[in-house]
Amino acid sequence: MHTVVAYGSAHGATEGIAQRIADGLRNGGDSVELWPLQGDRSPDRADRLVIGSAIHNGQWLPEAEQVAESVAKDSGSPVWAFSVSSVGATSTFLSPRVARFLRPRTPLPRAVAAIEASGALRSHRAFAGAIARGDWPGFGRILFRLMGGKYGDARDWDDVDRWAREILDAG
Ligand SMILES: Cc1cc2nc3c(=O)[nH]c(=O)nc-3n(C[C@H](O)[C@H](O)[C@H](O)COP(=O)(O)O)c2cc1C
Repeated sequence: MHTVVAYGSAHGATEGIAQRIADGLRNGGDSVELWPLQGDRSPDRADRLVIGSAIHNGQWLPEAEQVAESVAKDSGSPVWAFSVSSVGATSTFLSPRVARFLRPRTPLPRAVAAIEASGALRSHRAFAGAIARGDWPGFGRILFRLMGGKYGDARDWDDVDRWAREILDAG
């Protein structure tokens, strides 16, 4: 199976998750191309596409959104999507109480909703990322404090590995 793992990352946390997924798929026998989304180059065709992005202001980064839109219009292959933000399915760098409140109320990013509407989406996974002092300027920083945020790395590698295994098991 030839898989492209494409990702948009502003500060590196999503890149690390994309690399880990790529490693998991390779160990499971896939031939994997890791594809940083920059500018307007779209990834090559593949048997399956794994695409993910950091979340800024509730949405995927523009370069990832753009590729998601073209995938939604012309999706030859099944798509697995992941979003990296302050709240993942299994971990968070906000307070646990805030994360419990936000999880069921956070809408799909519009890029993922577009892929879902096209019928190509197999699964969407939310992972928590990482945040360093100074990453999130202005009003975001105030919100971050109000929501009990702690600077650091909240990535749950076991959950990332489980999701990679799900992709492999789906065949
Ligand atoms: C400018 C900015 C805006 C952000 N907006 C959101 C947001 O709306 N919701 C959220 O949960 N996290 C938000 N975050 C947190 C990031 O999604 C998180 O730090 C993620 O790990 C970033 O991934 P990256 O390191 O690959 O860029 C924001 C971070 C930055 C720097």
